[in-house]
Amino acid sequence: MNLNLDGKVAVVTGAAQGMGRAIALTFIKGGASVVAADIDLEAAKLVAEEAKALGAQAIAVRADVTKSEQVAEMVKSALEGFGKVDILVNVVGGSGRLKGRKLYLFRESTEEDWDSAISLNLKATMICTKAVLDHMIERKNGRIINISSVSALAGNIGMVDYSAAKAGVIGFTVALAKEVGPYNITVNCILPGPTETPGMKELNLPPESLEEMGRRTYLGRVGKPEDIANMAIFLASDGASFITGQSYAVCGARNLA
Ligand SMILES: NC(=O)c1ccc[n+]([C@@H]2O[C@H](COP(=O)([O-])OP(=O)(O)OC[C@H]3O[C@@H](n4cnc5c(N)ncnc54)[C@H](O)[C@@H]3O)[C@@H](O)[C@H]2O)c1
Repeated sequence: MNLNLDGKVAVVTGAAQGMGRAIALTFIKGGASVVAADIDLEAAKLVAEEAKALGAQAIAVRADVTKSEQVAEMVKSALEGFGKVDILVNVVGGSGRLKGRKLYLFRESTEEDWDSAISLNLKATMICTKAVLDHMIERKNGRIINISSVSALAGNIGMVDYSAAKAGVIGFTVALAKEVGPYNITVNCILPGPTETPGMKELNLPPESLEEMGRRTYLGRVGKPEDIANMAIFLASDGASFITGQSYAVCGARNLA
């Protein structure tokens, strides 16, 4: 099977760290040119520099993906820089817990918590997808890969807003795949389980709780960003050209716990 992305252009959101960074670098090693988009431009620039050191073409772009004007600029930079977008990976997401809030149960969650979870996880996916879709339809070619979470299926206590927003990403994936299939555009979704990323570390969970998360998978460990990137490059590759509307859990069977 050919996992080669030679000549392809990919826009990866949240590319400055964690899964986004791993996906950007894996795509680059696979031959793609990459637009590394992130709200943290300085960190995204480091990823672009790393890519260039590998002999690849990459540009870093600052974009808050919850803001459609900034996303329009992101896509404009991609088209000016590389002339096309073949692949969009919607990586940005997270929960209010990452913004300093400790675990909060549903009955303590506020409307603001819900607006924020839906905006960052679901609406941002919609905004970025809308921004590239006409271009992909015109070219009758495209790959859209969304990052949801195993929480969308298994649920997480204290993360009801996040779990619901991530479940929305699965519905978005399935429905959109049906609409855009006739244009040779595939839309798929990855559901990571607990994965060791800077975002996960920011939760400041005690070491025993990380170990416990690892134990609750059937492979006895938490995921690495590269585990997610490997699924992403497969879904972006020619080998996955007949796969659309699907959601794949990459979680050591954590979803079956
Ligand atoms: N880490 C896990 O255990 C885990 C598990 C399941 C799902 N996920 C999902 O995987 C995705 C990646 O998670 P991660 O842990 O690698 O994330 P992370 O927190 O380590 O990195 C997120 C990146 O997104 C950027 N970002 C945040 N808000 C942004 C915005 N509004 N616009 C543009 N960029 C923004 C950050 O600057 C950062 O570079 C998220 O959607 C997350 O919900 C993570």
